Amino acid sequence: MNKSTHSSAPAQDKLAAVRRVSPSALRNREPLLKALRDELPPSGLVLEIASGSGEHGVYMAQNLPEIDWAPSDPDREVHGATSSWIAQHKLPNLRPLLDLATTDAQWAQNALAALARAPDALVCINMIHIAPWPACEGLFAGAAELLGENGLLFLYGPFAQGGVLAPSNEAFDQWLKNQDPNWGVRALEDVCGVAAGNGFDLAKTIPMPANNTSVVFIREAGAP
Ligand SMILES: C[S@@+](CC[C@H](N)C(=O)[O-])C[C@H]1O[C@@H](n2cnc3c(N)ncnc32)[C@H](O)[C@@H]1O
Repeated sequence: MNKSTHSSAPAQDKLAAVRRVSPSALRNREPLLKALRDELPPSGLVLEIASGSGEHGVYMAQNLPEIDWAPSDPDREVHGATSSWIAQHKLPNLRPLLDLATTDAQWAQNALAALARAPDALVCINMIHIAPWPACEGLFAGAAELLGENGLLFLYGPFAQGGVLAPSNEAFDQWLKNQDPNWGVRALEDVCGVAAGNGFDLAKTIPMPANNTSVVFIREAGAP
């Protein structure tokens, strides 16, 4: 058979057609892998919030074999396709996709029930600016329920810092607000305020390509 005309199973083609694919995930996965390798504990369970296409989860599970990676996202339109795509990789350290929205007051308890243990770290890439502010508040409130002392919350995205917004992020902010007035590039100081209110300290900011920033929060010792 001519290899170039050989097509894969039709069902798989159909899934690929509806699967969400993120060009930005392809661009940022390598710098994110480096930052995560440096910041995450060497082994343990990581819960990813807002996994979207699931591409980061697959890539991190492939490259961080000592980490158990649990992806989640609330977008039910692409759940089936993303779940199937994740399952196709048959990675022993990549868990099935969970349906979690940080605006759901029960999300942390639902995660705990599904994972059967508390995660050691949370990772949230490109969510808090493409969601209303309560999504950020809910993220930290749930993280406080899930993470013990020194537990780590890793955020990635564009931020305003000290009142300064890079020109590319200013344009992005305007674009976001045109999509939904409740979306927008967040001020790191506001995010740190929510973090502090939930017992998290800002441990580190890591400049990333394209005016993005990775932000590491650590659960304070003795936080309720
Ligand atoms: C821009 S995508 C980012 C996807 C992926 N992390 C990436 O960087 O490619 C934003 C994702 O946030 C998810 N999302 C929106 N609101 C959310 C919430 N309150 N809790 C969890 N995820 C949410 C959406 O379903 C969407 O998949």
